[in-house]
Amino acid sequence: MTSNIVWHEGKVSYQDRCKNLGQEGLVIWFTGLFASGKSTIAVELEKELIKLGKAVYRLDGDNVRHGLNYDLGFSKEDRDENIRRIAEVAALFKDAGLIVLVSFISPYKNIRDFAREKAGGKHNFIEVYVKADIDTCAKRDPKGLYQKDKKGEIDNFTGISAPYEEPKNPELVIDTTKLSVKESIKQILNLIIKSLSLHC
Ligand code: ADX
Repeated sequence: MTSNIVWHEGKVSYQDRCKNLGQEGLVIWFTGLFASGKSTIAVELEKELIKLGKAVYRLDGDNVRHGLNYDLGFSKEDRDENIRRIAEVAALFKDAGLIVLVSFISPYKNIRDFAREKAGGKHNFIEVYVKADIDTCAKRDPKGLYQKDKKGEIDNFTGISAPYEEPKNPELVIDTTKLSVKESIKQILNLIIKSLSLHC
């Protein structure tokens, strides 16, 4: 931490912001292999939440790596930094009173736990493990990356040449080899509604 930096208190609280928006902030953290379905689900869920009148924002790994995190690659150190920054951004958006949908592979447990803490713990954070086996993901291969990996063109490819640490206690597991996008969203929406009504 840089010295001579002092926190500057505002005059508007989290509660004030939530009152204006008519909702609580919440982080929905999607984790899973490449092509497991995280982004597809997050995109549709965002649409549903907007229809319900909620203030929502989506943070997607591929998109954020075009800007804020353009300088990061796929080593363990870079992925941890990628998720650390996004955990901070998600916590800020949550503090603004938004429902934040975060879809990053986020393969390492420790940094996912950091994201949970940053958001304020279990009342403000829903970890959704978007589960699909690697063969299914490789068959889907929406951007041809599994094909590229077969030709030896990708380093640190998650699930193949880099680890994916499965969540041990996620709030929800969505098995996309069994559930449709519609069914997946229904399950997540139920959990969101439960969580928001518990804390409003
Ligand atoms: S994370 O591991 O640091 O959380 P993130 O979700 O930001 O990853 O980025 C994943 C995206 O980067 C994938 O959707 C894919 O398009 C692309 N990508 C490029 N190289 C790799 C790789 N080695 N492993 C996984 N995804 C990769």
